[in-house]
Amino acid sequence: MKRIGVLTSGGDSPGMNAAIRAVVRKAIYHDIEVYGIYYGYAGLISGNIQKLEVGSVGDIIHRGGTMLYTARCEEFRTEEGQLKGVEQLKKFGIEGLVVIGGDGSFQGAKKLTEHGFPTVGVPGTIDNDISGTDFTIGFDTALNTVIDAIDKIRDTATSHERTYVIEVMGRDAGDIALWSGLADGAETILIPEEKYDIDDVLKRLKRGHDRGKTHSIIVVAEGAASGVEIGKIIDERAGLETRVTVLGHIQRGGSPTASDRVLASRLGAYAVELLLDGEAGKMVGVQKNELVSHSFDDALKFEHKLDINMYNLSKELSI
Ligand code: F6P
Repeated sequence: MKRIGVLTSGGDSPGMNAAIRAVVRKAIYHDIEVYGIYYGYAGLISGNIQKLEVGSVGDIIHRGGTMLYTARCEEFRTEEGQLKGVEQLKKFGIEGLVVIGGDGSFQGAKKLTEHGFPTVGVPGTIDNDISGTDFTIGFDTALNTVIDAIDKIRDTATSHERTYVIEVMGRDAGDIALWSGLADGAETILIPEEKYDIDDVLKRLKRGHDRGKTHSIIVVAEGAASGVEIGKIIDERAGLETRVTVLGHIQRGGSPTASDRVLASRLGAYAVELLLDGEAGKMVGVQKNELVSHSFDDALKFEHKLDINMYNLSKELSI
């Protein structure tokens, strides 16, 4: 293999730049040329492709976002779009591809593999919702952004003696809510993986209030419920003055944490190793701190499982 490509796709996540850097530098270290594909699969279809040099990825390891830009591309869901992509790769003499993104991006990577194009996936999403890896690139940074926000909200919650509902991202996964809620001592955490009973939530709040607790923090995963709706119910039914904060896209930006930079560097370099070893059709990941790889078929077949023991622990600690 003499020339590979790299693209980022789907929602950006902090650490994607560090992963691009690792792919480019690892490949060049092995005398392989690297081409950057801009705007994800959309750029692959349209041929928005340029050669990257060692210097192209200088000064980006600490930056959020992705220097290759990203997009969600409907056309690439069609066979016609996928074949156009393969054609462009061949036109540029690219023999292998690294796709950095979440499970939607891996669906596209799997399709490329099925069309006979060697592709390796690197998990980059703040949601931490990919099976086959303990952590995805960007999760740790998003988590720290959420914690910083909740700490600030806690100051005003204490001063005003109010209840705060904080809605966090995660799509269908509760990892951001669970980890941030546990790290911030939230009274209640609502996640899509566990059914909740609003009466229980109100009961817990009331119990705390009767015990002399003057403020509360409730973290809601966007996949579990609407923070605004939960806030309305608490305000009306528990009679507690409640405010709602939807953290939104602030969670996707910012300089990646050390942990995300290291993870991205390890996974990006490992993806290149797999391509060079002829082991495409796989995603890379980290499990128990070891680098691992799984076929796209396996990775996409199994649902990501959140650690339910952590959820139970959060309940025990927030009595
Ligand atoms: O997958 C990352 C993510 O930020 C999710 O947490 C969220 O549900 C979604 O993307 C938002 O997507 P968009 O930026 O397209 O609105």
